[in-house]
Amino acid sequence: MDYEFPKPPRSLVGKVAIVTGAGAHGDGIGNGRAIAILLAEDGCAVVCVDRDVALAQRTVEMIEGERGSGSGSGSNNNSSSGGGGGSGSGNFSGSTSTSTSSNNNPGPILQSEADSGPSLQSEADSGPSLPSEAEADIESGQPPPANHAAAVTTTATSTSTVAVPIAVAMAGDVSVEADCKSIVDSTLQQFGRLDILVNCVGIGGAAGTAVDVDMAAWTASMHINVGSMVMMAKYAVPAMRRNAIEPNWLYRGAIVNMGSVAGLKGGTPHLLYPTAKGAVVNMTRAMAAHHAADAIRVNCVCPGMVYTPMMYAGGRTMSEETRTARKNRSLLKTEGTGWDVACAVRFLAGPQARWITGVILPVDAGVTAAVGTDIPKSASVNG
Ligand SMILES: NC(=O)c1ccc[n+]([C@@H]2O[C@H](COP(=O)([O-])OP(=O)(O)OC[C@H]3O[C@@H](n4cnc5c(N)ncnc54)[C@H](O)[C@@H]3O)[C@@H](O)[C@H]2O)c1
Repeated sequence: MDYEFPKPPRSLVGKVAIVTGAGAHGDGIGNGRAIAILLAEDGCAVVCVDRDVALAQRTVEMIEGERGSGSGSGSNNNSSSGGGGGSGSGNFSGSTSTSTSSNNNPGPILQSEADSGPSLQSEADSGPSLPSEAEADIESGQPPPANHAAAVTTTATSTSTVAVPIAVAMAGDVSVEADCKSIVDSTLQQFGRLDILVNCVGIGGAAGTAVDVDMAAWTASMHINVGSMVMMAKYAVPAMRRNAIEPNWLYRGAIVNMGSVAGLKGGTPHLLYPTAKGAVVNMTRAMAAHHAADAIRVNCVCPGMVYTPMMYAGGRTMSEETRTARKNRSLLKTEGTGWDVACAVRFLAGPQARWITGVILPVDAGVTAAVGTDIPKSASVNG
């Protein structure tokens, strides 16, 4: 049925995302990894950035595995349809590992072709490339090709066709500005466009209260937790500005910044983390105002205490008692995971949130919705 006002689509087919901090220890589901997997599930090509490229590469393999097993797949070739997600065999097919080199710094590193298979660059040299086709579309102001899988290229050494990847791992330290620039440049070079930026990198940072925190560690931590998001946006926004506005999307690009419940409320033992996440929250509103005229939406997701590898891997452990205490501080008294965070990010990044910008969305089982739920009824005003 044709509606006077068509339903917003959900599919991300034909779109390209950068997710920073997309790796995680082992096969654990961190927030960035879950976000990359869910964006790919809806047909988006995803550049998985991590300073440890092996962790991002595992994310790419997991995306590849989901596609191989058919998990989350569905036919989803038409980005203007109102249908659901699913990567399907639509736009981008296959996954690969590729990285790029920055001219003047050690980060974004070039992975050897032996490790990662034929590189996109050498494919582009030997045949028609996706980037140049996509560039042409951007320059002409036309929407991107509806099915990028048509733009497969042939390697010089093989007669088999090599599909344009749906996910690539890219090494980069987002606290280094040259890396942020290289990440965006390389994304444009490989995919021809950038639609979504998820600024997921964040660290616990400097320990202590105002009395005892080390100020050099404070400055470095603020730079990683806040400055990195500014630097990624600095290069991503001009790239997004080049996108045509599609009738059903109504926007050129979307940025989702990773905040935290710690940035909304007090109660954390160390001063740096809640201060930095509080800055991310209001930076999101300021960015939303700055870039609305360019039809770029900027939103923020604030997770509660989700159980990610940050909590139990890399030399850290968490007792069952602590885990239970974390669950019980919420209204729902259940444990959240990276998937819960990723579902919110996917929504805010996609066209179903096309009329939403400047929003701060807690994903916290109700932690920020109420206080004092454990006190007796007799303590209330009407007893
Ligand atoms: N886990 C939680 O309970 C929780 C709660 C609220 C908010 N968050 C936020 O979610 C985000 C991700 O948390 P997580 O626990 O999933 O992640 P994590 O700590 O497991 O880190 C994910 C990845 O980020 C990479 N990384 C770290 N610094 C980087 C840098 N400078 N450049 C590039 N990559 C870098 C790491 O190598 C790692 O693979 C953070 O912003 C965090 O503050 C987490």
